[in-house]
Amino acid sequence: MNPEDYTKGDAFQAEKMSLFSTEWLPVCAEGQIAQPGDFLTVTVGGWSVVVVRGKDGAVRVLRNACRHQNMPVVGTPSGNCETFRCRFHGWVYDLQGHFLAAPPPMSPAKPGPEHDLQVLALAKVGGMVFFSLGTPAALPELAAPSVPYSGTVITEMACNWKIVVEELKDGTRCGPLLSVTSTRIHQVVPHTFLRTRLFTHSFGAAPDTFDTLKQTCEARQQAYQTGSS
Ligand code: FES
Repeated sequence: MNPEDYTKGDAFQAEKMSLFSTEWLPVCAEGQIAQPGDFLTVTVGGWSVVVVRGKDGAVRVLRNACRHQNMPVVGTPSGNCETFRCRFHGWVYDLQGHFLAAPPPMSPAKPGPEHDLQVLALAKVGGMVFFSLGTPAALPELAAPSVPYSGTVITEMACNWKIVVEELKDGTRCGPLLSVTSTRIHQVVPHTFLRTRLFTHSFGAAPDTFDTLKQTCEARQQAYQTGSS
């Protein structure tokens, strides 16, 4: 790897189109959306998605892109709701992504399936929910946890996602964005090329904090930025 791979937006754009648009990407632990109506919005590798548990109990992953003018429909990171109402001009969708209604001046003349939110391919493996924008061949191999989900800690880091993956040395890699131990799944969420969110899902173990990891990762990023690495 060159320092530019960690510090340039061009490298991230290339990863968005090659890696993040083709692989199965983790979006959350199933336990994070346990109740009907629970949702999370996540931007993974530049792709903004909403993962939601419907009233029928099924989990779906939707592109967080309104069919009116392609703006993000959901602006809050998580919550519980009955419908999604786009904050820009008021288009309303149900939890399956179906277009329901819009204020008269903004409403399509003939609502049809083309006005529904895009539903993405989804897989549930080992207590985690994955989505894909492409048609990846193999599902991630992840053993189901033997103890119940016990919580998620989110650590925000001002660094490139690859540094976080490289510094997660205590687990087994599963796909490009997961590191797995016996009691935890670390989920790396590449938000932008200089911002990474780490979701650490605990199973059985008490949720912990990761300040030392954050400091190590951000110090490495600084070293790349200043040319001292
Ligand atoms: S962009 Fe969503 S209603 Fe206009």
